[in-house]
Amino acid sequence: MDRKLVILGAQWGDEGKGKIVDLLSENYDITVRYQGGSNAGHTVIANGEKFILHLLPTGILHPHVVGVIAQGMVVDLEVLDKELENLKSKDIPYEGRLIVSDRAHLVLPYHKLLDQLFEKKSGIGTTLRGIGPAYMFKFGRKGIRLCDLSDEKKFKSLLEENVEFVNDLCEKVFRERSNLEVNEIFERTLRVFEKYKEFVGDVSRFLLGTDKTILFEGAQGTMLDIDMGTYPFVTSSNSSALGLANGTGLSPKYFSDAYLLGIAKAYTTRVGGGPFPTELKGEEGDRLRDLGGEYGSTTGRPRRCGWLDLVALKYAKEINSFDGLIITKLDVLDTFDEIKVCVAYELEGERIEHFPASSKILEEVKPIYETLKGWKKSTKGIRDREDLPPQAMEYIRFIEEFTGVPVIMLSTGPKREEFVWLREPQRTKVSYS
Ligand code: GDP
Ligand code: IMO
Ligand code: MG
Repeated sequence: MDRKLVILGAQWGDEGKGKIVDLLSENYDITVRYQGGSNAGHTVIANGEKFILHLLPTGILHPHVVGVIAQGMVVDLEVLDKELENLKSKDIPYEGRLIVSDRAHLVLPYHKLLDQLFEKKSGIGTTLRGIGPAYMFKFGRKGIRLCDLSDEKKFKSLLEENVEFVNDLCEKVFRERSNLEVNEIFERTLRVFEKYKEFVGDVSRFLLGTDKTILFEGAQGTMLDIDMGTYPFVTSSNSSALGLANGTGLSPKYFSDAYLLGIAKAYTTRVGGGPFPTELKGEEGDRLRDLGGEYGSTTGRPRRCGWLDLVALKYAKEINSFDGLIITKLDVLDTFDEIKVCVAYELEGERIEHFPASSKILEEVKPIYETLKGWKKSTKGIRDREDLPPQAMEYIRFIEEFTGVPVIMLSTGPKREEFVWLREPQRTKVSYS
């Protein structure tokens, strides 16, 4: 088993990372979230119970795992409070096994307000969790970090400055009055901080000082990466492997011995606006949405659905340098006569083999498909590779050959125990039955 395992979304998010992190963190001591915030929605179905984690690392559901919120995240303390209270109510104690970086920035009510106002014009379709504005303040050097909360005077003055700025912006640019109250935000924030301040600490030092096993849990997906995704229809953090170093505060050298695992659905979904070359707008798309239960885990919005885009997946493999892939939701394709995969794009008669930078070009390209035979047999809950239909294995082989990455596991249902190892799991071994 690799001491460091990185799990990354290889598409536009919601690939089933939560399920896989839950499964594999059984064998890890520490799970780290390091970018994004409560825009994430990671679903776990274990022992008949469903959890959706937004801010907390998914591994925290295992009582032996230490959960870490690293400095690259933007933290909404009220969401943190809600999630921790939920764990408590489910008899999952977290005392002594949570660390929140003192360098992480806060998401405050004015970030959520701005997210709503910006959305009116941008059409990005954000989750409205204040993520983009929180990162704007961070990079504009106006952010407030957890370490600032120990100095109430400093916190108050930073808050006053920010609220004044946001009020001005609301009135002068958006012609709206905000009802932001400095004192209310101040008191609410400190009330939650008081409750959890013993968990706040130096995450980079903690990670450097341990020889325990660590699973790094990416949120969102590669195609939503602020630099490498379908800009501007992206999230505001590096949700590809690029986010590892800046999100943890550690050198890229620290990750040189990590195993990088990409998670991809057997088809494609995205939620919100932006280009999606293989999107199916008619009945086939509705069928995928219904069969896959494709509704957002954070916002409940219907997800846009389409065939597997191998041009995008190969691009994700290249920039992340994946060592292996896990393909999830194979069972959703069980009833299709034929399954298409996009192997190139076409634009004005020209074949494009590489993923273009421009979202405008991506809006215009037409997918070039290869059609594979469906297996027309239930794979739901299959645990043994011998039970997989040959056409399903051909589909997986096609993905491996196209991307050049071994598919190490298939997920055959939402439950923890619904999976099949395809490669001898020498490096990561789990025991659910
Ligand atoms: P994440 O954001 O990557 O963690 O993914 P989400 O939790 O947002 O969305 C994935 C959805 O698919 C959740 O509802 C999971 O319970 C479900 N799911 C995960 N793996 C499988 C699978 O192999 N088959 C089926 N049918 N559902 C799955
Ligand atoms: P997980 O971790 C899918 C999308 C939003 C929107 C864009 C920007 O569950 O895979 P933001 O609120 O981040 O500013 O929204 O990114 N988005 C996600 N889509 N899964 C997610 O997370 C997402 N987090 C953000 O829908 O298009
Ligand atoms: Mg999700």
